[in-house]
Amino acid sequence: MKVLVTGGAGFIGSHVVDKLVDSGYEVVVVDNLSTGKREYIHSEAKFYQADITAAEITEVFEAEKPEFIIHHAAQINVQSSIVDPIRDANMNIVGTVNLLTNAVKHGVRRVVYASSAAAYGNPVYLPIDEKHPISPMSFYGLSKYTPERYIELFSSLYGLDYTILRYANVYGPRQDPKGEAGVVSIFVDKILNNESPAIYGDGLQTRDFVYVKDVADANIAALGSAVNGVFNVSSCEQTTINDLLGIINGIVRKNIEPTYCSSRDGDIVHSYLDNALATATLDWRPRYALRTGLEELVHFVLANRAEIIA
Ligand SMILES: NC(=O)c1ccc[n+]([C@@H]2O[C@H](COP(=O)([O-])OP(=O)(O)OC[C@H]3O[C@@H](n4cnc5c(N)ncnc54)[C@H](O)[C@@H]3O)[C@@H](O)[C@H]2O)c1
Repeated sequence: MKVLVTGGAGFIGSHVVDKLVDSGYEVVVVDNLSTGKREYIHSEAKFYQADITAAEITEVFEAEKPEFIIHHAAQINVQSSIVDPIRDANMNIVGTVNLLTNAVKHGVRRVVYASSAAAYGNPVYLPIDEKHPISPMSFYGLSKYTPERYIELFSSLYGLDYTILRYANVYGPRQDPKGEAGVVSIFVDKILNNESPAIYGDGLQTRDFVYVKDVADANIAALGSAVNGVFNVSSCEQTTINDLLGIINGIVRKNIEPTYCSSRDGDIVHSYLDNALATATLDWRPRYALRTGLEELVHFVLANRAEIIA
């Protein structure tokens, strides 16, 4: 069975590709390498360097005729979405519609879409389940949610099957610690450099950290599922930012103190996602405890540093 993975050179997409290849799928990657890296793409996957917003995508569908699409290509920077909402909407909304149009035209069976907890905005109750009101607080949140509605409409108009996965905070190897990356990779990078990481607020705010390999597993489970629907993909656990720092310090046997800064406007205080629907419906559950995932991440970062120095 052939799967087209968009964003397969990126942090999460490349783990999905690894898992698909290991599970015996034939994999085609489409990525424009704007943030992704060619070396992250599994050697057994076929690679097209292409932009999902471009007309040339049609040629990939014509040549490859995939049965499934797993769609991870996106502009993921919240701040960029505020500065340039047109570019953000073009990448995330128009790019997805381009894929869906081609999917229908070329007989794709199922689309798996990487959505985000950013769709929910400020939680009105916890844990956030899939029925929670949608109220994004950034154009990124809106541009990740809008394709969900397109997917549902493509499904009802043309019978395209779909699984929408709303991710919590994903962490793991290959996440870029620079710029506006996830807090986990920034903390690991800072601590290994003996630098003090910034914590905005008192550090008692909580997040739901889910390991990238668990997220990859959820994508494989979604492919095999016979149901169309929206599912949170999360650990369903609340971790304070202070505790996160403490665990990483413990793993690397350091005691780097954070620098506390005033909290940023619009920062959410507590957030975690209920994953009961995914665990009951998809053949999936998160396997990595936070500490185990963090240990694996630290080993990966240290091994890669050793490679660079060698
Ligand atoms: N990282 C998280 O915690 C998180 C949380 C929720 C949702 N998501 C979603 O998961 C997906 C993957 O995110 P990530 O963290 O791996 O980011 P990433 O930036 O590492 O991956 C995105 C990939 O898409 C590619 N890409 C971007 N625009 C493209 C375009 N127009 N055409 C073709 N390729 C393009 C990039 O080169 C990159 O390889 C995104 O859709 C993101 O919104 C991520």
